[in-house]
Amino acid sequence: MKKVVFDNYEQLSVAAAEFVAAEINKKPKFNLGLPTGGTPVGMYKNLSEMNKAGKVDFADVTTFNLDEYLGLERSHDQSYWYFMNKNLYSNVNLKPENINIPNGTADDMDAETKAYDKKIEDMGGLDLMVLGIGPNGHIGFNEPDSYLIAPTHTVTLTQSTIDANARFFDSADDVPKMAVTMGVGNIMKAKKILMLISGANKKAVAKALNEGIVTPENPATMLLMHPDVTVLIDKDADQ
Ligand code: F6R
Repeated sequence: MKKVVFDNYEQLSVAAAEFVAAEINKKPKFNLGLPTGGTPVGMYKNLSEMNKAGKVDFADVTTFNLDEYLGLERSHDQSYWYFMNKNLYSNVNLKPENINIPNGTADDMDAETKAYDKKIEDMGGLDLMVLGIGPNGHIGFNEPDSYLIAPTHTVTLTQSTIDANARFFDSADDVPKMAVTMGVGNIMKAKKILMLISGANKKAVAKALNEGIVTPENPATMLLMHPDVTVLIDKDADQ
């Protein structure tokens, strides 16, 4: 695991966008796994500007998002589709047919999750997976537990995740209790992983990544077993 420490969030965001752009520019047809949340907003802003400046081209990029809340329509302003559209899709030359997010309102979630995994496999797998990390160590919505699930699956969110995400909603009661997420297997199969860690509330989970112990109680530690992970972290989150 390679770690690069930045003085602040702005610098981290520029470096994250440059990392993603450089990977896209290396390969004509690129499969890109993407997160939502507060952390990647700066990266998306920089990627949008780089796209407008002709420094990165999304025409042949296919995106696969990590997760989505269950029960929120795309038009809901807290759905991850809405977030992605606002922060990236509407700002860059991604083709609408190349955008993938698990559908959290599908009638048959079992079929939805299987189809999502099949599409990733059929496309040749993820070239790069960009990740954030929950204050509890979750990646995607793979929550701390005594076991981890490999494929895309539905999940009941932990209270700590509901509390952490309440800042985006009117109240914690409005945060959906369930989500659909890529599993740890999907993430581990990505050829390359870029993890973004920012803010003092991530210090404890970031520290655990330095300790070399892999445990489902801190799902991000699974990444210690992946051969190509780069962590971009700001000083506030670094120990
Ligand atoms: C979101 C996701 C989550 C977030 C994590 C950190 O798609 O997969 O794992 O990356 O909850 O969120 P922020 O960046 O808001 O701290």
